[in-house]
Amino acid sequence: MYICLCHGINKKIVEQLQESGHCTVRQVQKQCQAGSSCGACLPDIRKLLKDKAPQEGS
Ligand code: FES
Repeated sequence: MYICLCHGINKKIVEQLQESGHCTVRQVQKQCQAGSSCGACLPDIRKLLKDKAPQEGS
């Protein structure tokens, strides 16, 4: 499933970037351009990173 249509970036790519230490929207953007055109996907990227982030204290 695409998360960023402008750059053809799917959820999996963002998850893999996060796993390799790119934990912020800006870092993801820098690596794969997701969110750097229309910006419509930024809330989704932010949410995905937040949902997948390790929970503090658990
Ligand atoms: S959908 Fe990601 S920048 Fe447009």
